[in-house]
Amino acid sequence: MSVEAAGAAAVAEAHPNIALAKYWGKLAEGPNLPAVPSLSLTLAGMVTRTAVRLESSLTGDELTLDGEATAGRPVERVAQLLDLVWHGSEGADGPRPAVAVDSRNDFPTAAGLASSASAFAALAVAANAALGAGRSVEELSSMARQVSASAGRSLFGGFVELPAGRAGDGWLPAQPLAPADHWALRLLVAVTAVGPKTVSSTEGMNRTAATSPYYDAWVAGAAASCQQIREAVLARDLATLGPAMEASALRMHAAALGAAPPLLYWNGATVEVMTTVQRLRAAGAEAYFTIDAGPHVKVITPAAQADQVAAELALVEGVHRVITTAPGGPARLVAAGAGPP
Ligand code: PMV
Repeated sequence: MSVEAAGAAAVAEAHPNIALAKYWGKLAEGPNLPAVPSLSLTLAGMVTRTAVRLESSLTGDELTLDGEATAGRPVERVAQLLDLVWHGSEGADGPRPAVAVDSRNDFPTAAGLASSASAFAALAVAANAALGAGRSVEELSSMARQVSASAGRSLFGGFVELPAGRAGDGWLPAQPLAPADHWALRLLVAVTAVGPKTVSSTEGMNRTAATSPYYDAWVAGAAASCQQIREAVLARDLATLGPAMEASALRMHAAALGAAPPLLYWNGATVEVMTTVQRLRAAGAEAYFTIDAGPHVKVITPAAQADQVAAELALVEGVHRVITTAPGGPARLVAAGAGPP
């Protein structure tokens, strides 16, 4: 670490992404390799902004999340990604310098809104600049994926695929499929609870793999489902994408519900939103839902129908608010330099 570089700082932004074809399950061996392929949409309208600062006075890494000093597991995950970016990079000439990380979301953290995806994607880009590591976006994607698989997808904008891992091969970046302006869709997030989710996705998928009699069936069907979703996205065919996307989410949750103890991520409003979407469809709307490891429901609809569908979802009992998002761009560096960001 050169003296000139001490005090270097960088700020990056990244958007969350929502999987249309779900990732749920890891290979038994390897650095956080997904057992199934997934396909996501990166979302404008929600953003994580992360600053990474190198300071000679720091004795260890420091993490501030949404304004609060944080210790324990989140700091370990940050350090894991910083180590991956640093070791073996062009800038590395010794031990990795300690950094101060300040990360802020403009949406609820750890509530099934994919905050870890945008957080680790933004961190990868900011750390790469602050540490002078010179990593490619593919390298940053593969590294972010090792900390949170969905984060590997948020390095890219628009529609993004993350293939299933191959045992023994740690290299696995996500791949862009189509840019944000490929398709004028809106993704509405019906927020049905406040506060963080109870069971993390890692714990949930490990429990599903270890105990659910439906896990093998979920994995066996995932590649064909992802392929169907990929073709529907490329053809801008919502009538095919919608049911395939709903099936991917419901089969993931079916496998999770079969775990012991069962993983029930839904609340009453989650089910009410799903049935509302079905009712809207019966009345002629094009709207389809998906659900992650939390109680919120995300609804895809054409831009032209978004206001009307959002207004209907907001009326559902138990829905706190509806966030309207559109396809968004890749993670990006917004500032880099020698002074404080
Ligand atoms: O990447 P993780 O560990 O945050 O897991 C993401 C799991 C789901 O959000 C439920 C599905 C997905 O593909 O994003």
